[in-house]
Amino acid sequence: MTPKESKQDATVDALTSTSYQAPVKKELLYEGYLYDVTEWVRRHPGGKIIEFYTQSGEDSTLAVQQFHQRSTKKVMAIMKSLKHRPATSEERKLIAIHNQHLC
Ligand code: HEM
Repeated sequence: MTPKESKQDATVDALTSTSYQAPVKKELLYEGYLYDVTEWVRRHPGGKIIEFYTQSGEDSTLAVQQFHQRSTKKVMAIMKSLKHRPATSEERKLIAIHNQHLC
């Protein structure tokens, strides 16, 4: 086995071992879109409150608008730069059911 093959084997072993866990994607629902904030949550100047929305799946639209009134332009520019996709109708249904239970 060449040194390169041995290195590849070690990588495959590391990835397939039971201790390996794929990073969990953290998404934030805002105005019908899901924003990938997996990396951003660690840099958020407003702290960990953002994690409540990624964990609960609750719609963050109102919270984002209300907590950033003095920095709307800055926040919107960051959001535009984040990967985002429309929430599917199935996801919207699940989130709606979830939010009903929160009330
Ligand atoms: C992708 C989504 C978000 C982005 C890009 C974002 C971005 C930011 C930025 C740039 C600031 C600093 C504002 C400044 O310079 O004055 C900030 C502060 C803050 N954010 Fe967020 N935020 C997000 C989501 C949220 C959510 C969901 C909450 C929930 C309540 C939240 C609550 C706060 C709070 C409380 C502060 C501190 C406000 C202050 O010091 O006046 N943010 N955020």
